[in-house]
Amino acid sequence: MVNGMGKYDNEMTYFPENKEKDSDPLISLSGINKHYQNNGAKIEVLSDLSIDIYSGERIAIVGESGIGKSTLLHILGTLDQPDSGTFLYKNADVFKFEKKKLADFRNKTLGFVFQFHYLLAEFSALENVLMPGLIKGLTSKEIRERAETILVRVGLKERMKHRVSDLSGGEQQRVALARALVLNPAILLADEPTGNLDKKNSHQVHDLLFELNDEYNMTIITVTHNMQLAEYMNKQMTLVEGKLVEIE
Ligand SMILES: Nc1ncnc2c1ncn2[C@@H]1O[C@H](COP(=O)(O)OP(=O)(O)OP(=O)(O)O)[C@@H](O)[C@H]1O
Ligand SMILES: [Mg+2]
Repeated sequence: MVNGMGKYDNEMTYFPENKEKDSDPLISLSGINKHYQNNGAKIEVLSDLSIDIYSGERIAIVGESGIGKSTLLHILGTLDQPDSGTFLYKNADVFKFEKKKLADFRNKTLGFVFQFHYLLAEFSALENVLMPGLIKGLTSKEIRERAETILVRVGLKERMKHRVSDLSGGEQQRVALARALVLNPAILLADEPTGNLDKKNSHQVHDLLFELNDEYNMTIITVTHNMQLAEYMNKQMTLVEGKLVEIE
């Protein structure tokens, strides 16, 4: 726990340096290719991309608009399929899962914060955050406390009952984050989670992410233009010619 002090103020000592050598990767992408066809022109976005990601790692993906950051996150989120290549999760071939198993994997293992957040505009903040639990088959009673706690943690204590359509862009972004985190996902995939937030709210969100990383070993893969968030990740990576490379 944080004891009133943000993780920002602590040294980043909670990711053991030798972790990678001790265990199998949580996620292993290999030979991922992805192209789009745009007005007859072929755009190669990801090209023979491979990466091993270990449990508890925090990875920032940075880089200019259009280089394929969201494309990669969508593949990691199993929302889009590559043209070729494999995605292993704990050594299981995710794209060979049948539909129901894939949906379960997505719901139970992944938390996703999209670049455009896709909330249910006519429902309240709380109802949106309850949704992943209801989809999983839990009752609202079972998940309400956790949903409320996480909404408080993202600074929305006074906004829980408000309709999403009445919330500001930054508030909506925090609802989306709370929805992604409510089931304690093993992996958080986030596309600019603090893009619409001011400094104070960004800090609050960053602290929350680090606490969940620390407490539950939640693996974080985030696209961000926020250099502060990027610097607090273990690895900063970018895409060069469709491949992920680490920024030293
Ligand atoms: N559905 C699509 N159909 C055709 N082209 C696409 C599609 N989605 C993305 N692209 C193209 O693929 C490239 C990579 O897009 P992507 O959304 O992954 O970029 P990004 O790095 O996330 O950019 P940004 O920082 O602007 O969000 C871009 O050139 C984009 O125009
Ligand atoms: Mg994008």
